[in-house]
Amino acid sequence: MYNIDETIKARHSIRKFLPRPVPKDLLFECLELAQLAPSNSNIQPWRLFIAAGAERDRLQEALLAVAREKAPNVPALPEHFTHFRSELGAQVYGVGMGIASSDKEARRAAVLRNWEFFGAPVVAIVCMDKELGPADALGVGMYLQTLVLALTARGLAACVQVALAGYPEVIYRELEVPRQLSILCGVSIGYPDLEFPVNKLKIGRALIANNVMVRGY
Ligand SMILES: Cc1cc2nc3c(=O)[nH]c(=O)nc-3n(C[C@H](O)[C@H](O)[C@H](O)COP(=O)(O)O)c2cc1C
Repeated sequence: MYNIDETIKARHSIRKFLPRPVPKDLLFECLELAQLAPSNSNIQPWRLFIAAGAERDRLQEALLAVAREKAPNVPALPEHFTHFRSELGAQVYGVGMGIASSDKEARRAAVLRNWEFFGAPVVAIVCMDKELGPADALGVGMYLQTLVLALTARGLAACVQVALAGYPEVIYRELEVPRQLSILCGVSIGYPDLEFPVNKLKIGRALIANNVMVRGY
């Protein structure tokens, strides 16, 4: 168990998990904490579909089958944000995995690991009612960060993955998600493989002045 500052600093995205199972009561302890997240009018807009064991394996198989055939339906970034994605790719695939940006085949294989949940034994698909809007998506975001911090404080780890929303038809079908919900992202959950070089990366952040504009203070 860490204190809050240590937990925030220790959390980072994990892209290779150990096959070690996640005890259900430990996961539910974290879900109980995340349930305390704030939301607009306390509507608690998060809806999660959790798959483990044979259900998780079936989902992986179905996702990989389509991911091998076609690109995911992930919204493109606006032009002025695309450099962040290239910089992250250089870190994760270049520095972490030693794959050159010109090696398209190796990069494709590495990206496909998203739909293997990076080997995590548990995956959660995160959804929200289609009639809700941006303020409610904020509530889901607050929930997710609370969940991921609770996991981190218990020695577990996670990777939030928009890639898992890239084949919504597969998820609706395999997990019987009601059509009233939109699929926002997934979260792979498990114990981190700390020997994997990508898991040792600390992805940097901009200076606060880039994000926070101060007036009269
Ligand atoms: C909404 C969201 C979607 C993300 N989608 C993916 C993804 O599809 N695949 C992936 O490997 N990482 C994904 N990430 C992880 C980010 O790349 C990561 O949070 C960011 O690079 C900062 O690194 P850190 O989490 O290690 O601090 C996502 C994170 C968030 C919050």
